[in-house]
Amino acid sequence: MSTFIKVCEYKKLADGSMRTVSTKHGNIVVVREGDNIYALANECTHEEFPLSEGWIEDGCIHCAFHGAKFDLKTGEALSLPAYENIVTYPVRINDGMIEIKVE
Ligand code: FES
Repeated sequence: MSTFIKVCEYKKLADGSMRTVSTKHGNIVVVREGDNIYALANECTHEEFPLSEGWIEDGCIHCAFHGAKFDLKTGEALSLPAYENIVTYPVRINDGMIEIKVE
């Protein structure tokens, strides 16, 4: 069964910033780029380094450990050394709150 988890108020997540959420499904990093919000598993598929330690640029999140980058929207691994995609989660804004959908 899927459920929505509240993250924070939309207006409190600044453009280019991230927030992490611990869930029973694992740690999730929530990212704002422009007006868009994305949610991804907070674990690089290369060596499990937290992606929240990295940076956001041009629609991608970059791993700070070895520099792999992933598409924010799809989670696709776009550069080595990572070659496996990151799990992504649906996001909605509900009554001004960012919510992520987990199964
Ligand atoms: S742990 Fe992320 S690129 Fe190596």
